[in-house]
Amino acid sequence: MSENIHVSVAWPYANGDLHIGHLAGAYLPADIFARYHRLKGNRVLMVSGSDSHGTPITVEADSTGQTPREVFEHYHHRFLEAQKDIGISYDLFTHTDTENHHRIAKEFFLRLLEAGHLYKETQQLLYSESEKRFLPDRYVEGTCPKCGHGEARGDQCENCGSLLDAIELIEPRSKTDGSRPVVRETEHYFFDLPAFSDQLLAYIEEHAHYWRPNVVNFTRNFIKGGLKGRPVTRDIEWGIPVPLEEWSDKRIYVWFEAVMGYFSASVEWAHNIGSPEAWKDWWYNPEAKIFNFIGKDNIPFHTLFWPAELIGVGAILDEDEDRRLTLPYDLPANEFMNVEGAPFSKSRFWAIWLPDILRRYDADAIRYYVSVAMPETRDSDFSWDDFLHRNNNELVATWGNLVNRVLSFAHKHWDGRVPEPGELGADDKKLIAQVEGGFETVGKLLEAVKLRAALAEAMRLAREVNGYLERAPWFGVIKEDREQAAKTVYTALRAIDSLKILLSPWLPFSS
Ligand code: MF3
Ligand code: ZN
Repeated sequence: MSENIHVSVAWPYANGDLHIGHLAGAYLPADIFARYHRLKGNRVLMVSGSDSHGTPITVEADSTGQTPREVFEHYHHRFLEAQKDIGISYDLFTHTDTENHHRIAKEFFLRLLEAGHLYKETQQLLYSESEKRFLPDRYVEGTCPKCGHGEARGDQCENCGSLLDAIELIEPRSKTDGSRPVVRETEHYFFDLPAFSDQLLAYIEEHAHYWRPNVVNFTRNFIKGGLKGRPVTRDIEWGIPVPLEEWSDKRIYVWFEAVMGYFSASVEWAHNIGSPEAWKDWWYNPEAKIFNFIGKDNIPFHTLFWPAELIGVGAILDEDEDRRLTLPYDLPANEFMNVEGAPFSKSRFWAIWLPDILRRYDADAIRYYVSVAMPETRDSDFSWDDFLHRNNNELVATWGNLVNRVLSFAHKHWDGRVPEPGELGADDKKLIAQVEGGFETVGKLLEAVKLRAALAEAMRLAREVNGYLERAPWFGVIKEDREQAAKTVYTALRAIDSLKILLSPWLPFSS
């Protein structure tokens, strides 16, 4: 039976180009997974978009003398280009500054407020006396109170992953002018996360047996540390206005609304295809499976905040108040991909940018290497040397040469037609059965989001074909025993035909 699969991919901040870490962390695994499910005949909806709000964008705008809108539009355009070139097959890649997303985010906010999940509280925040404004989290850095890392951001420590309150930072300093901010009071809305503790625990325990260990452990530890109410409004100018009259100069916190993009983008897609209710096939369907492809730094937002928002909002955009939105089925978070042994760093100019690498190499060569080195269970490394060797010794030697040899041979000796094989021998039948068994074995691994293992299995089958050709007479015997050669070439062509389908989620261009 055909299944409804939602592939929700993390929304990149539109404040810089996409790099190899983005590709390995979320975009490529999501695409491989979506392509597989489409091939299998499932109904796939794959959406994402530019995360266009929040201080990641304003910091970039300030430092380059642009408006936040100019920054996000510039990178949004480049995201579309790069992802098209590397073959990420979205149904929709939108952004969070659409009218549709604003409307839905405001609706979420108001419904959560009406249902009693938001409360007002006075907060102590860092205020810059030199700039005469509250400093957003990302405008502050200092020492992490959890691990001692000297350059923790005001919202999160990149070193240990802890979510932080800027006032917890030891020796905070303003990123704009280096001055030491003071603590001042301001009022904000908070999301009552602790009120969802029981429901969240039940949700996690129900799914933990098949979630990745890093996702389960991080989430359990986060809950153990004690769930706290989180502020979901901000004193900044760029973002979605809080939909309450006296609050119109404050904005909805970027993370609180960005995750809603999975939902709003589905609504936008349904509208675009002229079937405005179509999003309900995933979002109001308990049988639908929603997969969030994210990097490990995004885990708590997807295992706790977003599910709590979905539980808390109840029905939305629907007459029937008893409807319940579908919670994510799995969140196969990847670890990070370093470059030549060192982590990505924009400020230290250490990155492989997608637009750059795409100018030099074919998409499938990049996709192959990033897939074999995918950081599924631990951080991995992109090394140029390894990129060269794995492409030459595996992709080209095992697969490319196989296809090239067999197709040119068949073309030359049978006028470009598939030879008539007659009765196949035992070895021929065995090979065909082995390779066709791949639809089961590779498929199972793909469904469990074990993409590295799935690719290894497909490549193992390609090596089987090479082994078969080494054993079988074909090159030499074409003159003496054309019939035998026909059986071998036919068998190899059939195996290649299956393998090309098996490999197409990874290698969509050359397949
Ligand atoms: N923009 C965030 C990041 O780059 C990811 C947001 S995912 C979303 O880390 F679901 F919240 F949109
Ligand atoms: Zn830390």
